[in-house]
Amino acid sequence: MAGTGESILVTGAAGFIGSNHVQYLCESRPDARIVALDALTYAGNMENLAGLEENNRFRFVKADIRNADALTALFEEESFSLVVHFAAESHVDRSIMGPEVFVDVNVRGTLVLLELARKHKIARFCQIGTDEVYGSLGPEGRFTEQSPIQPNSPYSASKAAADHLVRAYHHTFGLDTVITRCSNNYGPYQFPEKLIPLMILNCVEGKPLPVYGDGKNVRDWIHVRDHCTAVDAACRKGRAGEVYNIGSDNEWANIDIVKRIASLVESKTGKPRGACEALISYVTDRPGHDRRYAMDSLKLRHETGWMPAYDFDRGLADTVDWYLVNESWWRRIISGEYRDYYDKWYGDR
Ligand code: NAD
Ligand code: TYD
Repeated sequence: MAGTGESILVTGAAGFIGSNHVQYLCESRPDARIVALDALTYAGNMENLAGLEENNRFRFVKADIRNADALTALFEEESFSLVVHFAAESHVDRSIMGPEVFVDVNVRGTLVLLELARKHKIARFCQIGTDEVYGSLGPEGRFTEQSPIQPNSPYSASKAAADHLVRAYHHTFGLDTVITRCSNNYGPYQFPEKLIPLMILNCVEGKPLPVYGDGKNVRDWIHVRDHCTAVDAACRKGRAGEVYNIGSDNEWANIDIVKRIASLVESKTGKPRGACEALISYVTDRPGHDRRYAMDSLKLRHETGWMPAYDFDRGLADTVDWYLVNESWWRRIISGEYRDYYDKWYGDR
């Protein structure tokens, strides 16, 4: 793997994790050129990359990963040594409402990138995957890289298909690939359709907190910055053709997270004690809702020395602070297309 002086393409760079990763790369790789690509869908936001345009090692390109002509031109213009592929349709509930775009972007879009990476002999292709490809766990055990691939939602099925294509490009064409599979992320710039920001915003606005089913589904939460350092470790030190799970051993039942957020917002905004918790509203469960995710990330830790740095108490409190301070960022989002989605999905639950 190339070290400094390389040129890195980051797809999905204006989204939640992609934008955090670009920020991280700009800080941690002073010699690298960073090309940030994004189609700017509902989830992509240039405000997430604010300030970076002043950096002369940074370039933003608005393009759709399914547009082979645009991407061919870009790969001819630049000479990438590393592709870090975050771009995707990423929300399970939207995949239930409309699966086609998930297959189109997550599978066909990944194929377009793989083909260009192969033709241009890119030194490494890093596929950003998810723990959701492994399906659902019972009360015990954790997913390892050997766990069977058993996706249950259209989102996770499309991500699994993309991972399989990446694997095939390594085996068939010798492309140097790594696949990372991470647990649920939280932190700054997360689009408010996902559990943690949605609950923070609804607490602030005094709106119902919609908890699916019995609220006892379990997710394994990692701070987005720890995800970024883990991806970077896999890019630098991971072995070609391998899969690396990423997680920070931090399992929570949804209802307990929602109660913690309610209490944090109450204390940080001076709302009366219990005012936010009283907004909890159990709603019809998500169809096919996976019960529990938990990641074993020992392989990445042993092979690369990566360790998560964030403690959940601090990470969650910082995240609540970030949304309180950046109200204009989320107010612009919730006043747009998001409102239609919200009314459609939650309207009859
Ligand atoms: P996000 O929805 O916030 O961002 C996705 C970005 O991809 C957006 O900026 C969007 O504009 C862009 N995009 C979508 N379609 C595109 C297209 N056709 N061409 C170019 N860009 C396009 O998602 P996220 O939470 O930042 O997730 C990023 C990646 O990480 C995804 O691949 C997701 O599967 C994976 N992942 C997410 C989590 C999580 O908890 N959020 C956990 C594990 C893995
Ligand atoms: P989400 O943030 O959508 O991530 P994922 O489905 O990819 O894990 O949801 C996290 C958990 O929170 C999941 O078990 C579904 C649940 N959830 C709710 O209970 N209410 C909500 O309004 C949302 C968006 C999610």
